[in-house]
Amino acid sequence: MPGLRRQDADQSALTGGMGEGGTEILDLWPTKLVRRMLLDFDEPNRDLLKHVREMEKENRALTTDYRDNNPLEHDRPGANWLRAGINGTTIDYLRAIGIDYPVNWQIHSWANINRQGDYHDSHNHPHCYLSGTYYLKVPGEGTAKRQRSDVRPNRITFYDPRGGFNMNSIKNDPYVEPEFTVLPEPGLLLMWPASLMHFVHPNLSDETRISISFNIVLKWSDTYLPTQQA
Ligand SMILES: [Fe+2]
Repeated sequence: MPGLRRQDADQSALTGGMGEGGTEILDLWPTKLVRRMLLDFDEPNRDLLKHVREMEKENRALTTDYRDNNPLEHDRPGANWLRAGINGTTIDYLRAIGIDYPVNWQIHSWANINRQGDYHDSHNHPHCYLSGTYYLKVPGEGTAKRQRSDVRPNRITFYDPRGGFNMNSIKNDPYVEPEFTVLPEPGLLLMWPASLMHFVHPNLSDETRISISFNIVLKWSDTYLPTQQA
């Protein structure tokens, strides 16, 4: 295939595919991900950790029975604090994407306790609008018993929903990375569209990794129906 010659490049820049009247470069199909440190999390985290551990004493399969264990249904200081943080973040997210009318939702949450070797396969959260995780406890770096240099314990990775967009990326274009990876810390709240695929890397240490995940499930109203382009 011949290379792009200077003359070709100049011509394409001049016409821009738009003819007379200028060029538009549109930012189509963006993916929003909220990364927020909640303020003053020490005390609420202590209460939430106690809460989750009490729940696990009642049900040893707490993490996998995620449909039946909603720690935010309870009226206690930590749960009330986190519920308020999630609701506020949901409002910020909706505003950021241009939703300027009333929307109602429910929070469905569950606790995750990952012990050594535990991980969550790549997945999304069907039948939900938004998903998120709040972190209570994450093992420190260097606490793994043994690990290969390229493993990334305790991270969460999100994948570009447009599969393969990195295939021909060149230096400085925005599509080089097919994934986005975060090493969470206590107090961090992440929120993303429920359709986004993500993977929770294994915990390789003796310490537990504890978080509360949640879905934002819309209470349906016909006022949500979009007006689409003809
Ligand atoms: Fe998930």
